[in-house]
Amino acid sequence: MTDPRSEIDAYGVVGNPVSHSLSPKIHKLFAAQSDQPISYEALEIKIDEFASSLARLQQQNYLGLNVTVPFKQQAWQLCNQRTSRAELAGAVNTLLLSPNGGLTGDNTDGIGLVRDLVKNRQVPIKDQKILILGAGGAVRGILAPILAENPNQVIIANRTVEKAQTLADDFGNLGEISVSAYTKIEPIKFDLVINGTAAGLSNELPPIPEEVLSMNTICYDLMYNIQANTTFVDWALKQGVTKAFDGLGMLIEQAAESFRLWRGVNVDTQAVARSLRNA
Ligand code: ATR
Repeated sequence: MTDPRSEIDAYGVVGNPVSHSLSPKIHKLFAAQSDQPISYEALEIKIDEFASSLARLQQQNYLGLNVTVPFKQQAWQLCNQRTSRAELAGAVNTLLLSPNGGLTGDNTDGIGLVRDLVKNRQVPIKDQKILILGAGGAVRGILAPILAENPNQVIIANRTVEKAQTLADDFGNLGEISVSAYTKIEPIKFDLVINGTAAGLSNELPPIPEEVLSMNTICYDLMYNIQANTTFVDWALKQGVTKAFDGLGMLIEQAAESFRLWRGVNVDTQAVARSLRNA
């Protein structure tokens, strides 16, 4: 473990579990690439000790933390300052700590997704018909940046339709959102289908009708798997779509945005993506 009293600026990712996190690898690659002398570690926090652990890390002079499952909402609550995108997301994935006790929260997940789509993969969002599967915290985090790109249509499908309706109500001032049960999704071919459900965690698929796909539909899974296709990507490719991506690019882009906030430098995310996929 890094000695927090050392001269090196200390960062990390807090979560539970967190040992599987790729964030240390990603941030160490960013640091090497940009010559930033920092430490970055995965820090497992006990489920009921988030607030006290955060205070301890602050005392130990940590300057920034990424926050992952299950602490993003708690982090949001503990911040005494939040960016507008964190405010909208209702969750914080990036913390800036100051020694005087200040805690600023940001959320870079949504911008990470939009950058991976638009910049890395040349997948437009503007004027596109978009179907989003799921209505949990992950989807809440991406809605504002997606709507900011001015899509033609956004439909959220979820098993529990009321949760989709809550999101449509909460974000309705940023753009029009329709909601649907899986069995009643409008039978059109969508330009982009984003899987934001947690179904993949148990190797399941949301019950999405294949009629919503054409060969040209782009499928994107917020989950990633370096070793093999995710269940959703695998399914989409089997339906004959030509482009289906997992969320590794989003993970790297959200990390790059955190790194930029902490260190004030831009990094080459594509080099890091290549390095992780080839490892
Ligand atoms: P996260 O923070 O990952 O978004 P969450 O807030 O618990 O986690 O939300 C999980 C989402 O995945 C929800 O939209 C959930 O659907 P319900 O709201 O109807 O529960 C969805 N989900 C989880 N498992 C699923 C499955 N097997 N099929 C379809 N949707 C699933």
